[in-house]
Amino acid sequence: MKKILVTGGMGYIGSHTVVQLYEAGYEPIIVDNLVNSKPEVLNRIEKITGKRPLFYELDVRDEAGMNKIFDENDIFAVIHFAGLKSVGESVQKPKLYFDNNIGSTEVLLKVMEKHGCKNIVFSSSATVYGNPERVPIYEEDKLGPTTNPYGETKLRIEYLLKDVAKKDKEWNIVLLRYFNPIGAHKSGLIGEDPQGIPNNLMPYITQVAVGKLKQLRVFGDDYDTPDGTGVRDYIHVDDLAHGHILSIKKIEEKPGLLIYNLGTGLGTSVLELVHAFEEANNIKINYQIVERRPGDIAACYANADKAYREMGFKCTRTIVDACRDSWNWQKKNPKGYDK
Ligand code: NAD
Ligand code: UD1
Repeated sequence: MKKILVTGGMGYIGSHTVVQLYEAGYEPIIVDNLVNSKPEVLNRIEKITGKRPLFYELDVRDEAGMNKIFDENDIFAVIHFAGLKSVGESVQKPKLYFDNNIGSTEVLLKVMEKHGCKNIVFSSSATVYGNPERVPIYEEDKLGPTTNPYGETKLRIEYLLKDVAKKDKEWNIVLLRYFNPIGAHKSGLIGEDPQGIPNNLMPYITQVAVGKLKQLRVFGDDYDTPDGTGVRDYIHVDDLAHGHILSIKKIEEKPGLLIYNLGTGLGTSVLELVHAFEEANNIKINYQIVERRPGDIAACYANADKAYREMGFKCTRTIVDACRDSWNWQKKNPKGYDK
């Protein structure tokens, strides 16, 4: 069984990917400093898969600790999820975001190189396109300028990885640009567990539904979109996770550098998502239209044909599936992973 090191594997997307790595016959090993996740995730992964991954509680910037992980394990490839991801916080603390996100990638690459492991899948984001010139967005479309420090760290890491691939042809690097992940594992055992008040739409909706928050604020209904509210490409987290399994299989073919959008290719407005949630779960969501959120864009959705053509990536779950699964997770875990 090939060993795959999953940095940030205790987090939202990482935990779903760890489950699928087992299902695909790989052996995941997790490194995570728990800055945005909980130890309980390991128990949940074990409940789903019957297997408990080897877990290193460590900051990826800890070079000695990372060397030890590679000394102790023959790692075939790394999936690099570890990073801070709050846009608002990144505006307040840009240095923290540069240090953590870029710093961890630099240490990781150094340690990988030292141990002759030159296969990596990186969690990039649609945020690298900044304010897109057109929708749907294609991989070759213009990158940046980014609109916040978080987005800037993703773009700079992409540049770094592209330069690494250019210089040394032994590296196999897959840059995955995620659109908006929502949903949860169908068991309701793992899901998104934001700390404090959520910034993103779906966790906000589920917390209104569970009674933790009073009312959803819909940020603007005067955008140039069919119903005036913002349009995004919401992808089920298990479809997104599957994109990582396909990327690892692709890496086995030694492809060099690859870049893919991971989205559904469909745009959904805020109100469409709210109504889909209401219909899927038979719950009314109390909402109010308020001012636009600064920095938001009208529409952002993927052209995901390249990932389909080259690695057979296809979303099999609908928005309604995602609404049902998000609610199942929230209902079973009203306080997230805290009992
Ligand atoms: P998450 O916060 O749930 O998971 C990230 C994990 O990384 C957490 O468990 C955290 O504890 C860990 N971590 C952070 N810094 C670390 C460090 N220095 N050392 C060790 N562990 C560290 O986030 P997620 O939603 O699962 O996102 C995973 C990745 O995908 C991130 O890089 C994020 O920027 C990227 N991404 C996420 C989204 C999204 O909407 N969720 C969209 C695009 C890209
Ligand atoms: C945000 C980040 C983006 C990041 C992405 C995934 C910003 C400016 N951008 O994007 O960099 O890659 O998350 O993590 O934060 N909405 C409401 N009410 C809410 C929350 C959201 O109406 O309480 C609306 C937003 O205006 C937007 C849509 O819902 O139209 C989706 O918002 P969100 O989930 O925050 O994702 P993005 O804005 O796409």
